[in-house]
Amino acid sequence: MFKIPFLDLPPLRGAAGTVRLPGSKSISNRVLLLAALSEGRTVVRDLLASDDTAVMLEALKALGCGVAQDGDTVSIVGLGGKLLAKQAQLFLGNAGTAMRPLTAALAVLAATQGGSFEVSGVARMHERPIGDLVDALRGLGCSIEDLGQPGYPPLRLRGPSTLALGTPVRVRGDVSSQFLTALLLALPLVAERDIRIEVIGELISKPYIEITLALLARFGIGVKREGWQAFVIPAGSRYRSPGEIFVEGDASSASYFVALGAIAAIDAPIRIEGVGSESLQGDVRFIEAAAAMGAVVQAGPNWLEVRRGAWPLKGLTLDCNHIPDAAMTLAVMALYADGPTTLTNIASWRVKETDRIAAMATELKKLGAQVDEGPDWIRVQPLRDWQAASIHTYDDHRVAMCFSLTAFNGLITDRAVSVRILEPHCVAKTFPDYFETLFGVVSVNAADVPVITIDGPTASGKGTLADEVGKALGFGVLDSGALYRVTGLAARRAGLDLDDGEAVAAIVPTLELSFRDGQVFLGKEDVSARLRAEATGLLASQVAVHPPVRRALHQLQLDFRRLPGLVADGRDMGTAIFPDADLKVFLTASAATRAERRYKQLISKGISANISGLREDLEARDERDKNRSASPLEPAQDAQMLDNSALTIEASVDQVLGWWQQRRPF
Ligand code: C5P
Repeated sequence: MFKIPFLDLPPLRGAAGTVRLPGSKSISNRVLLLAALSEGRTVVRDLLASDDTAVMLEALKALGCGVAQDGDTVSIVGLGGKLLAKQAQLFLGNAGTAMRPLTAALAVLAATQGGSFEVSGVARMHERPIGDLVDALRGLGCSIEDLGQPGYPPLRLRGPSTLALGTPVRVRGDVSSQFLTALLLALPLVAERDIRIEVIGELISKPYIEITLALLARFGIGVKREGWQAFVIPAGSRYRSPGEIFVEGDASSASYFVALGAIAAIDAPIRIEGVGSESLQGDVRFIEAAAAMGAVVQAGPNWLEVRRGAWPLKGLTLDCNHIPDAAMTLAVMALYADGPTTLTNIASWRVKETDRIAAMATELKKLGAQVDEGPDWIRVQPLRDWQAASIHTYDDHRVAMCFSLTAFNGLITDRAVSVRILEPHCVAKTFPDYFETLFGVVSVNAADVPVITIDGPTASGKGTLADEVGKALGFGVLDSGALYRVTGLAARRAGLDLDDGEAVAAIVPTLELSFRDGQVFLGKEDVSARLRAEATGLLASQVAVHPPVRRALHQLQLDFRRLPGLVADGRDMGTAIFPDADLKVFLTASAATRAERRYKQLISKGISANISGLREDLEARDERDKNRSASPLEPAQDAQMLDNSALTIEASVDQVLGWWQQRRPF
């Protein structure tokens, strides 16, 4: 996951390959609650690991359920409908799929068994309505106290109280279908007699009710229904665990990759595994909307394949009530269309993680798009004159994910721009590795991938600075010195004459080099510690003078230029390897400072050292690096000079990030 303040996406050019989707959020949280209410153990496989499921799992633990997690498998020992804890304070983050059904389940359990439970969430959760559900539960006889603004969490659910199960429970269906879902999940707990639920108003997001009903059936509850107007939970209903249950991939998450296929899968399709034609989730019908905009879609039971059909895409007018979440993706696809796209019947967008109609309109306009909105609709005009923009994501995972698709603007206009996604980690709500997954299937011109070079003499602090800058920007890091060190080490081990450049260069292609978790491996051996030794540094500077060795390592270094960007440190990063780098830094510090730093570094690792000896070694190495004819150590003409003798690491990092920001178009 990119846990950074912003992620910059350079222009992306195409897409192909296979993605495996994380588990569905809607199914994951329903299944967890159903398992918790059933008797005995349920093994839940392919569970989504995300913020929303994490708060649900914490809540279930607080209620006394046995929870054992092993990767994406969770084993739950349920309550069998009996409250083990009679008091709990449950923090449910911004997870509507946890807040609504837990409120209903705890309200009816407290009514019949006694207890006091508080449910709360983040500030935005306290702005998301729950009044219609509370009204329905109060009508039934539950005792619910508003702890904040009436109609919104936080709430206290208290019992015992008498439930009027003989009269129908009435709930509004036109604000959020989660209210009805919550009642359908909770009322089997108290179904001594038939319980009738009646929906007031037009029920929205019906496909989510289908998911609820299908999962209830898996847990032994056969709800009888009269269209979408009334639902009856039969007397004597009891939750029965299916023992084991698999969670489907998230169909709403699939929408980003379906759109990706429609926009950018030009030569080969994008294959999406985890959802398909047999999916329980209504959002899988997003493929029909994408096809109407021009995508070519093939579907199997558990997979989809999508490629570009019409280009530009075709603008359309669509009632999106059945695909409220995935429809946000259409608003971004609309930028690539041949005419306006109007999405209607999307009032529920206004009460989601953020006011999504307002959010989409505001951010699309930043890119230059013309957008109109109404209470329950949005219209987006095609965009050809794109502006680089910094996209605010409102702590809404879907805003972040769908705006990543704007990085393909270079496919529809000659003047491609970069896009900055603020707070990209908000995708953790449903898809923590979204950006990594995206980067795994997109193509980019290497020249578009941003590079920062940090060159300078030995022990100037390049490595530390590069690591910190890389961390701040989410960029990969190339420690080019390590490549020369490895080469020197391998040449010495092979008994080669280090002055024979051709012979040393010849071993480079045979090196089984890999980089994992910041460590360097030669074959299976972790050589990181050996590489850092002073003696290896001297070997490196010996082999580094030979042009054949430098040529042999050239492509290897270029291969590090990958999305979303690279920080490369060494001696010739800005002059020879990445002469087109967006920012070049030449780092210096006095020889005395550098010798002292190296001395402290060695002592802290328990290695004995002598400061004047170290200084002599440094100076000898610098001399050789500066005076060699092949790529000598010297600042690039356009390098920013940074003497960090008197600077802290933080100050150096801030300086480099400041220079970087000046070069960005945002
Ligand atoms: O940066 P580090 O101290 O690990 O580099 C070891 C040696 O490798 C340097 O002294 C230099 O001779 C060589 N080197 C180089 N070009 C680079 C990086 C390192 O010549 N880009």
